[in-house]
Amino acid sequence: GRSAAQERPSLPVPPLQDLRPGTPVTLTARVGETEFFPGKPSPTAGYNRHLLGPTLRVRSGDEVTLNVRNELPEMTTVHWHGLLIPAAVDGGPHNEIAAGQTWKAELPVQQGASTCWYHPHPHGRTGLQVYGGLAGMLIVTDREEQALGLPSRYGVDDLPLILQDRVFDREQHLVYPRGHMALMHGALGSVMLVNGVREPRAAVPAGLVRLRLLNGANARVYDLAFEDGRTFHWIGTEGGLLREPVALQRIALAPGQRAELLVDFGDARPAVLVNRTTAGRQPLLHFAPAGERRPHALPARLAQWQSPPREAATQRRRLTLTMGNGGAMDGMSGLPGMQGMPMPHGFDGRPFDMARIDQRVKLGAVEIWEVSALPGMMMDQAHPFHMHGVHFEVIRRDGRAPDALDAGRRDTVLVDAPVELLVHFTQPGPTVPFMYHCHILEHEDAGMMGQFTVS
Ligand code: C2O
Ligand code: CU
Ligand code: CU
Repeated sequence: GRSAAQERPSLPVPPLQDLRPGTPVTLTARVGETEFFPGKPSPTAGYNRHLLGPTLRVRSGDEVTLNVRNELPEMTTVHWHGLLIPAAVDGGPHNEIAAGQTWKAELPVQQGASTCWYHPHPHGRTGLQVYGGLAGMLIVTDREEQALGLPSRYGVDDLPLILQDRVFDREQHLVYPRGHMALMHGALGSVMLVNGVREPRAAVPAGLVRLRLLNGANARVYDLAFEDGRTFHWIGTEGGLLREPVALQRIALAPGQRAELLVDFGDARPAVLVNRTTAGRQPLLHFAPAGERRPHALPARLAQWQSPPREAATQRRRLTLTMGNGGAMDGMSGLPGMQGMPMPHGFDGRPFDMARIDQRVKLGAVEIWEVSALPGMMMDQAHPFHMHGVHFEVIRRDGRAPDALDAGRRDTVLVDAPVELLVHFTQPGPTVPFMYHCHILEHEDAGMMGQFTVS
């Protein structure tokens, strides 16, 4: 019969753009067109491209300059999700770039090797702009990582994989879901994309391959595994490399989170990365290993970073994610049974307000943030909680010590039970604040966000 594998598009690898001190790079947000289905163009947006953006790569210790040009017909911002940099250049909702304007961002990158990303963050429009295609990967490298000998040939055995899901109408054109369901669950699509393409095929060497997974979906939590159930090694989280590899058969990835994996294709057998759902397995990406088998060694130890001591915590803050019914914002308050509950999404019942500082933190402080979600009136929703400008560690989940899957330095954590986070505030934000928010972008846009200063 017909060989589906041969007809699959190959995995597009975004162009790599190395950032060097003294050599500014221009990133232009613009609109374009993408054929997700052959012959069916949809309007999309990207950075320097029609969809998504180049992979930016920076060496730890370098200060680099980006000129972000906004050629969109509306205001945008560009947030460097995962970078530990001062709030003034973090790219949150306060760093507005009006249509036609250029923002010069000077980024002092000091953190260790990590897989980060960049995306728009204009208040109320983040979901729509990301959904349209504005997102890209950002890789930090350092000497310690290079000495480990991990696979590092970009696009060959070191693959950037941006996972997203989308909705298409009957004519196979891209649509952004709106309305009550999207407000409650976020924009969930039935079509799975990797680097902007449906079920692509990646040619990989028959050996050890490093996958840099980014959940760039607006709302979907992925439960990732290989179809053949093979074991892989988890080596990195949002904040960089783990202390040692962890052998797993599945890994969950919430919106905004990243995971670095090492997968052994040394047996040269084809493999399929799938998303496990209650309905079955959705294929995401097909791997076709080829070529000479390469011997490889898995490093026993990765990065030897220090955790801040818990005793150093000087503050405990409690935050509760609260779901509204959209209230007046989408005209849903008139639904039967919902009268008298015109509550928007927020923290502790209060929606985001650009003019209100919610938390004030001392620069250099270590704190414990307890984050939980109020059980919804209609449903239980797990919220991916994200903080800008920090790495944290999950020190308790549901009242107990967390398991191995909560390991590492994080910037986003799924709050499907109350969590306690040990947060170290190393970056200044005395005037322009940092954000914390739910990374379900429709929740964020509807007010599930707060801001903190650090000084
Ligand atoms: Cu990835 Cu505040 O965002
Ligand atoms: Cu962020
Ligand atoms: Cu949420």
